[in-house]
Amino acid sequence: MPAFRRLDDAPAGRTALVRVDFNVPMAEGAVSDDTRLRAALPTIDTLRAKGCKIVLLAHFDRPKGKRVPSMSLAPVVGPLAALVHAPVAFAEDCIGAGAAKAIAEVPAGGVILLENTRFHAGEETNDPGLAAEMAKLGDFYVNDAFSAAHRAHASTEGLARALPAFAGKSMEAELDALDSALGNPRRPVLGIVGGSKVSTKIDLLRNLVTRLDKLAIGGGMANTFLHAQGWEVGASYCEKELAETAREIIKLAGKHKCELLLPIDTIVAEKLDARAPAFVRGLGEVDDDERILDAGPETIARLTRAMDECNTLIWNGPLGVFETPPFDHGTVAAARHAAARAKNGKLIAVAGGGDTVAALNHARVYDDFTFVSTAGGAFLEWMEGKPLPGVEALSV
Ligand code: 3PG
Repeated sequence: MPAFRRLDDAPAGRTALVRVDFNVPMAEGAVSDDTRLRAALPTIDTLRAKGCKIVLLAHFDRPKGKRVPSMSLAPVVGPLAALVHAPVAFAEDCIGAGAAKAIAEVPAGGVILLENTRFHAGEETNDPGLAAEMAKLGDFYVNDAFSAAHRAHASTEGLARALPAFAGKSMEAELDALDSALGNPRRPVLGIVGGSKVSTKIDLLRNLVTRLDKLAIGGGMANTFLHAQGWEVGASYCEKELAETAREIIKLAGKHKCELLLPIDTIVAEKLDARAPAFVRGLGEVDDDERILDAGPETIARLTRAMDECNTLIWNGPLGVFETPPFDHGTVAAARHAAARAKNGKLIAVAGGGDTVAALNHARVYDDFTFVSTAGGAFLEWMEGKPLPGVEALSV
């Protein structure tokens, strides 16, 4: 990972243009989950302590370069003001004289949010003209939006090239955690990749097998690997057309000396229903009308042993259909084992991705992991080994 400038080195008493990710869940025009607002607080507090004006830039939804009233950031102002315990001003555009005037009226240490950057077509095309207009509004740039860093947009990439640029506190925490998990980890490193589809994670698997010491594959995608090895998977979800891809990944893992941990037993039922009778099945024992819905006890025991042998864990995707107990058992047992080791300082446990966050919350271990990334697409692209334009632009 390239070295980057940190917020502590940013100047005091100036105007900071801070890119945050306020693409928050909304219900009936109101913020329904403020996690992403909270994520901006450490950066806001740091800049406040420096006596800087804090000008927040963000996108919301995908208005495709047009002013769409239902995609305004205005509903964010109230909840944000409550979190920062101070007034938050709002400007109806992220460039121009109106925004400049509104910023001029903000006191030192004050906060203003500018309207959705994606109301301008130049945002998504990374138009240098739009970045230059934004740059006029501040003295330096801070990117605190890791979860939007896979987008090369004017406010995530172009602006970082137009002004002195720094990583915000959440961005910094994210980059440091990711570096400790995959960039420069304490080996051995174990990966867990689950979820239903191999098709969405081919690049990720290809990258991980070249970098990890062990990789456990679980969830529906493991069925594709079992099928590729000639095992019957009954009526399970399985991307049979990807059997050859799965075999290639197995071969690539062998070439890079990455030990692949595929399921050695499974939990099956005839339907996805909490009351359906469920059975443990060894490989080759799955009947035609049975569906694999969770990892079996031997598979989980082997996985927890692997955690005990490793110093670092990177996890994306559940091991079974955790939303429907009892098929949450494998995911919960593995998450709790990892969390206990992380809590005792024996494992650096980093996880990320939408379903994974929900699974760790379900297992009630979110806080015990060393770091949990709430970024979706950006986290996956980073696991795929792709450079993230918003991060690259911060490098010194
Ligand atoms: C997200 O919510 O994952 C980020 O804000 C990126 O949003 P996007 O997928 O619309 O670019």
